[in-house]
Amino acid sequence: MARLQPLEEQARRLREQIKQADHQYYVLDQPTLPDAEYDRLMRELQAIEREDPELQTPDSPTQRVSGSPSREFQEVRHAAPMLSLNNAFSEAEVTAFDTRAREALRRAGNEVSEIEYACELKFDGLAVNLRYERGEFVMGATRGDGAVGEDVTTNIRTIRSVPLQLATHAPEIVEVRGEVLMFKREFERLNQRQRAKELREYANPRNAAAGALRQLDSRITAERSLRFFAYGVGEILGATEPPTHAGLLDWLVTLGVPVAGEREVASGVAGCINFYDKVGRLRARLPYEIDGVVYKVNTRAQQQVLGYVSRAPRFAIAHKFPAQEAITQVTGIDIQVGRTGALTPVARLVPVFVGGVNVTNATLHNEDEIRRKDIRIGDTVTVRRAGDVIPEIVAVVPDRRPPNAATFRMPTQCPVCSSKVYREEGEAVARCTGGLVCAAQRKESLLHFAGRRALDIEGLGDKLVAQLVDGGLVRTPADLFGLDVATLASLDRMAGKSATNLAAAFERARSTTLERFVYALGIRNVGESTARDLARHFGKLAPILDATEAELLEVPDVGPVVAGSIRNFFAEPHNREVVAELRAAGVCWPENEPIRTPAGKLAGKIFVITGTLPTLKRDEAKALIEVAGGKVAGSVSKKTDFVVAGDDAGSKLAKANELGVTIIDEAQLQKMGGD
Ligand code: IVH
Repeated sequence: MARLQPLEEQARRLREQIKQADHQYYVLDQPTLPDAEYDRLMRELQAIEREDPELQTPDSPTQRVSGSPSREFQEVRHAAPMLSLNNAFSEAEVTAFDTRAREALRRAGNEVSEIEYACELKFDGLAVNLRYERGEFVMGATRGDGAVGEDVTTNIRTIRSVPLQLATHAPEIVEVRGEVLMFKREFERLNQRQRAKELREYANPRNAAAGALRQLDSRITAERSLRFFAYGVGEILGATEPPTHAGLLDWLVTLGVPVAGEREVASGVAGCINFYDKVGRLRARLPYEIDGVVYKVNTRAQQQVLGYVSRAPRFAIAHKFPAQEAITQVTGIDIQVGRTGALTPVARLVPVFVGGVNVTNATLHNEDEIRRKDIRIGDTVTVRRAGDVIPEIVAVVPDRRPPNAATFRMPTQCPVCSSKVYREEGEAVARCTGGLVCAAQRKESLLHFAGRRALDIEGLGDKLVAQLVDGGLVRTPADLFGLDVATLASLDRMAGKSATNLAAAFERARSTTLERFVYALGIRNVGESTARDLARHFGKLAPILDATEAELLEVPDVGPVVAGSIRNFFAEPHNREVVAELRAAGVCWPENEPIRTPAGKLAGKIFVITGTLPTLKRDEAKALIEVAGGKVAGSVSKKTDFVVAGDDAGSKLAKANELGVTIIDEAQLQKMGGD
């Protein structure tokens, strides 16, 4: 066999990689490559084929819209093909698109100075065609390869936002086109359930939606709460389409079809970019994922002049947001020791540009997470950075694992202070047992203490804290207040002025509030809102220090776990000493009268909820108990007063029986907690 030329070989490899990715994505609903990487491979292949058209094979993935119908569902030929959109990744590409469109209109004798665009969201779900005959929903199909899709009517019927009957003015035939999505919250819940059942997690809401839509059992689809938003139409018979795209969407709304409210008509490129920026700021707050915005020439007459090129319209373009996922390599796994001694493994990465920033490391949460995702040192991984969230490793690209990839092991000794590492049974987190002996914990506690929401010591950052701790100048927060300007000025990078400023910041921090002070202590499980509740409830510090568990449980939102943490913290003589030293150093706050919310019917009672309740969701049952003054705990113990059991209650029910805890059902709970 003749040896393949390098370019030919490269094209063949790219075709293989893309086909493999397509199969994993469309047929198995189990993607291995992030979109940006897939797009890169596709563009590389397109470039080679442009260079040398002879290398373009008829089955090249560049020759079709991706996705082939699977054999599980009936095939449906679309009455009008389902097209795709060209993408723009920069403002320059949007400008080029607009220039081309104006030029084409001008050549057709249709000159305009600015084109009016209908701007919409680019939903990150999957495209479907919903066919209505005489207003009645008769068929729902996936896009498939654009010409032939899969008949998923039964599954689409389970989507509550899809009307089964349109308004009475519906035409003879209308095909509504849009996107099926899974809301982010639903996606999180689904993955939680998958984890609990030790089943594979979905990589993102879109794949979860695809998986749900392509279930053979539509009851499973129904459980997964999908949504639908329309963005266009296919075949229409018996109605004149409105003359603009924006008008078309308004018309769909009158028929009862859901259309996302985030849309507007904008003028020219400037108007489009304004929409892009606005949506970019809104993105993280949307309940579903989008991967950009879409600009469509608003006037149908102009759309018709512009027409289509291969599989995409010339009158529309998707302006994509920077990719939130990219692939890179794990070069190592380090351990970070937090304020409470939690050891968090952190992946060191070959730097990669994702979500608009350079990412060099990603949190791995804990050991179980690493095992579950089977992440090894040397692996190629998909990294995700969405909005302002901490970068995360989504998954390993399995076929790129080097033979010497090393498995991670949690150290048995703290990497900072060498104290023993301990992992409590049933807890995911391993902790250093060194407490304040551990320099890492000390540094983190001091940073927490000085933080903006705690005592707010302006200018006391991690570099300074490291110097103070490593130089033996500070052991506890109280030591901070003993630092004089001369000592501060002797530190690295502390010129006279900064030392004076810092000393002034310490001075200011001395006057604080009780809630800030309680929060600043860094008691486990006591965040800002619990600190506030404690401060309001007790008014003064002394009763908090000596509160019994029962007294603590009277505080709104304090359950047995939090009460336990508070008790343990103040039972430790060292912590009481630090509190006394801080007061002696002049830290003070106004004392108040306690503010107590009247005790409810369930005051002081501790509940555990298990299994599926007939009507109340878990959050609702919890709210009912808490509104009536009760507490909800996560596990059954001797202290539990009631276990609320629903269907499929498991080990918690058994434990309740074993301990003789009273077991009630939802109806009894409603009676106890109701007005
Ligand atoms: S219009 C004639 N509008 O993007 C153009 N598509 O790459 C047909 N999509 O398959 C598509 N949001 O699944 C259009 N507002 C939107 C969209 C949108 C998401 C998806 C759609 C399509 C793909 C095209």
